[in-house]
Amino acid sequence: MTNDPKFDRLHSELIARHDRHLYRRTRTTDSAQQPHMHIDGKPMLVFCSNDYLGLANHPDVIHAMQVAANTYGVGSGAAHLVSGHSRPHQQLEEALAAFTGRERALLFSTGYMANLGVANALLSSRNDVVYADRLNHASLVDAGLLSGAKLIRYPHNDTSSLGKRLLAQEEDNNVTQLILTDGVFSMDGDVAPVGKLAVMAREHDAWLMVDDAHGIGVLGKNGAGLLEAEGLGQSDVPILMGTLGKALGTAGAFVAGSHELIEYLIQTARTWIYTTAQPPAIAAATLTSLQLAQTEHWRREHLQALIRQFRLGASQLGLPLMPSDTPIQPILIGSSEQALLLSQQLAEAGILVTAIRPPTVPVDTARLRVTFSAAHSSADVDTLLAALETHFRP
Ligand SMILES: Cc1ncc(COP(=O)(O)O)c(C=O)c1O
Repeated sequence: MTNDPKFDRLHSELIARHDRHLYRRTRTTDSAQQPHMHIDGKPMLVFCSNDYLGLANHPDVIHAMQVAANTYGVGSGAAHLVSGHSRPHQQLEEALAAFTGRERALLFSTGYMANLGVANALLSSRNDVVYADRLNHASLVDAGLLSGAKLIRYPHNDTSSLGKRLLAQEEDNNVTQLILTDGVFSMDGDVAPVGKLAVMAREHDAWLMVDDAHGIGVLGKNGAGLLEAEGLGQSDVPILMGTLGKALGTAGAFVAGSHELIEYLIQTARTWIYTTAQPPAIAAATLTSLQLAQTEHWRREHLQALIRQFRLGASQLGLPLMPSDTPIQPILIGSSEQALLLSQQLAEAGILVTAIRPPTVPVDTARLRVTFSAAHSSADVDTLLAALETHFRP
């Protein structure tokens, strides 16, 4: 403890968070990302990873990374516009464009940076307006806030409320409007009404950006995400953001769209320009995981079977599930204290499911965010259901 009075406020804030059951802490893992892990010195069955397709520890992906590291070394050494843009980066951008059916794609080091970069590049004045779903991921909220534009948060998936707020094109031609939405909502697992949003965006001459961090790899026939599943192309949704650190099992993110959009981002997106490119070996590993995600359809099929098994079993137990068909299957608890308690009880039984509490989710909607991976077995789901039956108290 320091005697510096500046730290007093930090100290009391930490205590207050603890008292409100909102304190967070890291756990240290000693194994690769997979259902059965070694965490904080003990074996755990994990249901909170975003490695939805089970590719983070795939031997082919690891091999691709090792081979590329032998050629390209570890660090990229510089930003993309300097000397950091390697052949694997270029190949991955081309592969991601083809995968998503867009003209071009641009790699970012993280999804958080991609969201900030796009909003800040497109919006330039305080007259510009960002419309954001109230349950959007924090990185989209911050993208709107930091853009300096007016931020309007509309009720979750409420397109009629959004429609009342959007400016008609003829009202002010100088105002740029940007609608931001998660594709699959990260803490809820439900999906945005992207078809409707695309029509509204076109009618109001607004940009539409879909953050499909949790849909890429998981949804759509070939795993190209929610927009593939809904049949929406580049003219419907001009800005698609996807992350590589979830279903694709590596790290980083991309924005896909028209040639002009990508060229504009290259000139203006500060979170892309002023940062070191991701390591080339990560891009090489992602090329392999992308290939696996596209061709190994059994991963998505198995995942869907696990989701059905869990939802059936959980509803028989009377667990408060949320309306989700995706691998994100939250159990709504309400109080942070109860959510934390259940998470701790499960951890003692060797099952890791994190309690998600405010401010990540709205007050009084704390939950256990259960997620599934194609690497889980049906027996793993049975183990989870048995533990929930023992510990869940309505
Ligand atoms: C919906 C959504 N968007 C963006 C991000 C940020 O992506 P990254 O982890 O690559 O920064 C996340 C989670 O991390 C997310 O859930």
